[in-house]
Amino acid sequence: MSLQDNGSEERSQDDDDILVLREPDDWHVHFRDGDMLSFVADHTARQFARAIIMPNLVPPVTTVAAAEAYRTRILSALPEGRRFMPLMTAYLTDEIDAEEIATGFKDGVFTACKLYPAGATTNSAAGVTDVRKIWPVLERMQSIGMPLLIHGEVTAPDIDIFDREAVFLETVLTPVRAAFPDLKVVLEHITTEDSVRFVEASGPTLGATITAHHLRIDRNALFEGGIRPHAFCLPVAKRRRHKEALRKAATSGNPKFFLGTDSAPHPRHEKESACGCAGIFSAPTALESYAQTFEEEGALDRLEAFASEFGPRFYGLPLNTGTVTLRRRPQDVPDLMGNDTVHVVPFHAGETLAWRFEG
Ligand code: DOR
Ligand code: ZN
Repeated sequence: MSLQDNGSEERSQDDDDILVLREPDDWHVHFRDGDMLSFVADHTARQFARAIIMPNLVPPVTTVAAAEAYRTRILSALPEGRRFMPLMTAYLTDEIDAEEIATGFKDGVFTACKLYPAGATTNSAAGVTDVRKIWPVLERMQSIGMPLLIHGEVTAPDIDIFDREAVFLETVLTPVRAAFPDLKVVLEHITTEDSVRFVEASGPTLGATITAHHLRIDRNALFEGGIRPHAFCLPVAKRRRHKEALRKAATSGNPKFFLGTDSAPHPRHEKESACGCAGIFSAPTALESYAQTFEEEGALDRLEAFASEFGPRFYGLPLNTGTVTLRRRPQDVPDLMGNDTVHVVPFHAGETLAWRFEG
């Protein structure tokens, strides 16, 4: 990374700082399908060289053929000449075929498998009802070096929604780690200090992604002056002290924590509803949002490793060789984005961000 300024003593509006980073990757994103895919795909592809694409479509992506077809739809949703590599994932179900998974991984179609506990979040009804049902699949994944990506929340109705992640660590992740110590696991979109400590204390086969929004909102944001559906995502934002722990972890330089936006667009009317969908659409200003947090933490010099190095190293993939540029120039985020068919409220709607992505 290089942080350049023009060396003059006094900064004016024209003396913009420029942040040049190795091209980053997004290790967790929802692209959806159809009109929504067409609208959102390039918001990610313009900022990131690669992204791990979540498989929670309806029906979910459970076969090599479905993943290949989805990858083709993603690539055709991008503008001519855009260089972007979607990294496809398989959606684990109770009945998932270990052979299919392994074939897809060997052939370079699947990069990883995603574990959604059944009922944990959007389009997770077909997810895994009991992790022991997929023990043989995890065994196979461990033996071939295929990473497991986890939505780490229990779904038992008697567990308080704010405790679902912490209880998952104890009741699901601990036994999985004990049974499969060499299985590469990414605990996705962590939201608690408990998860930070768990990941820190684990061996090198456990990593975690951290979203841009969990670094900026705590659970107060959900109720600021009324109910705020655009701040609702899963896992739900927790108390302030958890957000502070996430900010420390992300900016610490610990390679076990890396960038994954969990950008999850929903049409505005499905968020602003009596039963609003979970998900925050952060893709349009993802890097700017992370940059703002890292700057506030005095850690801009660590943004590049978090965004562009720790993820590929964990996955065993090459680092990107190009660069992207952010400029310190105020950017107003619109209240609403979209086109004739799709309307989505972005993260940071109506705010002004300090940095601007330039390409
Ligand atoms: O907030 C979320 N939205 N969390 C998830 O786990 C899924 C995602 C979605 O697909 O909308
Ligand atoms: Zn997600």
